[in-house]
Amino acid sequence: MYSLDGRVALVTGAGAGIGRRIATRFAQEGCDVALLDIDAAGAEETAAEVRALGRRALALAADVGDPDAAGAAVAQARATLGPVDIVSNNAAIVRVGPVIELAVEDWREVFRINADGVFHICKAVIPEMIARRSGRIINTASWFGKIAKPNYSAYSASKFAVIGLTQALAGELAPHGVTVNAVCPGTIVGTRMRSDADARSVEQGLPTAKEREALIPLGRVGVPDDIARVVAFLASDEASYMTGQSINVTGGLWMH
Ligand SMILES: NC(=O)c1ccc[n+]([C@@H]2O[C@H](COP(=O)([O-])OP(=O)(O)OC[C@H]3O[C@@H](n4cnc5c(N)ncnc54)[C@H](O)[C@@H]3O)[C@@H](O)[C@H]2O)c1
Repeated sequence: MYSLDGRVALVTGAGAGIGRRIATRFAQEGCDVALLDIDAAGAEETAAEVRALGRRALALAADVGDPDAAGAAVAQARATLGPVDIVSNNAAIVRVGPVIELAVEDWREVFRINADGVFHICKAVIPEMIARRSGRIINTASWFGKIAKPNYSAYSASKFAVIGLTQALAGELAPHGVTVNAVCPGTIVGTRMRSDADARSVEQGLPTAKEREALIPLGRVGVPDDIARVVAFLASDEASYMTGQSINVTGGLWMH
């Protein structure tokens, strides 16, 4: 365990799945945590879990894709918990289908949340991080941000964008003592995004994540804690010489 004692973290998409585990992991490491999610009830549930771990929590119902809402949520987090030391940009959605059938609205919505959302939250937290000469930003991309698959054009392209933004921002903020990295999860079960994907596979007569487990070199699908552990490391002083990296957490499924 890395001590993040006394730090303030903000997690987007914290109302469920991987984001919830990142938030509770931060709390276990000693952080107070702001939980931002478009699903207010989910964010409140995570807040209760953080408080049960003895840390302060603030649930924020907001859409990361709305720049004003994202800015207001960050301001509220700062006003309630103090300056934000750590940001986990984790909220995302998926829209699936061949490009020829994908509606332009779906393409835009995926980018609005997955890529623009990271941009808006970063814009809101960066000035104070620069002023304090410290900060950690960890973006959740995907292995689909490195290798795109058919039917996932918008999702994959948005995750490539997250990796590009991570690299550009890392260079911009390095002189100011702020690091920016990404995690690239592989097949992570126990989340809504994964159960939706499995439901689509079943509909199409394709194997579920669990049934494809043998293809993963480490022999098992991932769970949210596999990602949360790496995010906590990247948020810690142990990772102080890392920036601009996009770390695969895939059980070896993807190695580039
Ligand atoms: N589960 C996987 O196998 C997997 C694989 C690779 C990458 N990822 C990435 O991990 C992250 C978390 O995924 P998950 O599997 O936990 O998904 P999930 O669907 O379980 O959770 C996503 C959370 O984001 C929230 N959210 C959606 N739109 C939002 C918006 N506009 N504003 C604020 N919050 C919003 C949802 O309400 C939800 O609580 C995502 O970035 C996803 O792309 C997941």
